[in-house]
Order: sequence, then C-alpha cells, then structure tokens
Amino acid sequence: MSRYAVWGTLAALAWLAANGSVPLSAVPPSAAAQPKAITAGQGAFDRVCKQCHGPEGRGGDAPRLVPFSREYEELLAVVREGKGEMPPISARSLPDEAVAQIVAYLKSLS
Ligand code: HEC
Repeated sequence: MSRYAVWGTLAALAWLAANGSVPLSAVPPSAAAQPKAITAGQGAFDRVCKQCHGPEGRGGDAPRLVPFSREYEELLAVVREGKGEMPPISARSLPDEAVAQIVAYLKSLS
C-alpha cells in the first residue's frame, strides 16, 4: 500500500468513527456493547443464576458477582465445571451463547 493509500484509509476510518458508522468489520465482536445481548443476558441470569447470586448479581447465598471483570472463557469454565458449592450447569440448560450474554449483562452492571 502506498503512503497515500494508508492515509486515505485512516482518514476514511476517522470520518466513519466520527460519524458513528464504522463498518462492522472494523469493530471487534464485543457482546458488551450490544443492548440485545445485555437484555438476553439478564433473562438468562434471572432464570439460572439469580436464585444463588441475587438480583443483578449483588450476592445472596453465593458471592457477589459485580463489578464483573471476567472474560467469557473464564465464566464458561466456572459455569460448566462448577466451583465449590456451585453446581456445574450443562449446555442443555444454558447454551454457550447465553453464557456470553450473561457476561455482557454483568459487565453492563459493573
Ligand atoms: C445453586 C447455586 C448457584 C447457582 C445456580 C449459580 N451459582 Fe455461581 N456460585 C455459587 C457458589 C456457592 C459460588 C462460590 C463457590 C466457591 O468459591 O466455593 C459460586 C461462584 C461463582 C463464580 C466465581 C466467583 C468468584 O469470585 O470466584 C462465578 C463467576 C459464578 N458463580 C457465576 C455464576 C453464573 C454466571 C451463574 C448462572 C449461569 C451461576 N454462578 C449460578 C452458587 C451458584
């Protein structure tokens, strides 16, 4: 790529960013920024986790989860393998996608 092409690309990206319409391919796939994922995550959390971790993850019989700083892979491991008194939760009752949505939800509360 020539120097001019590089600057042209950067200028185009800057313009798109400034105008709030960065093409999807330029944005890392982050569920954290998606309102839909957050809403879905709240539904899944309330259904599966709230009974122990309390409303909005504020703690109950199980520890408080917010502020939440874990990544998806870490949470998936805890959910699938269980931890101490937390039972493992199967993909049948909570699909991987719902775990990712729960990450987005908990981060949105943090
Ligand atoms: C039956 C009760 C129960 C349910 C349901 C449950 N948990 Fe837990 N969870 C626990 C307990 C108890 C611990 C503490 C385990 C320990 O450290 O010994 C825990 C620990 C955790 C931890 C680790 C906390 C830390 O600081 O190490 C995370 C993260 C977590 N749970 C997330 C979830 C999510 C997300 C869900 C729903 C998908 C969920 N849990 C459902 C009881 C539960």
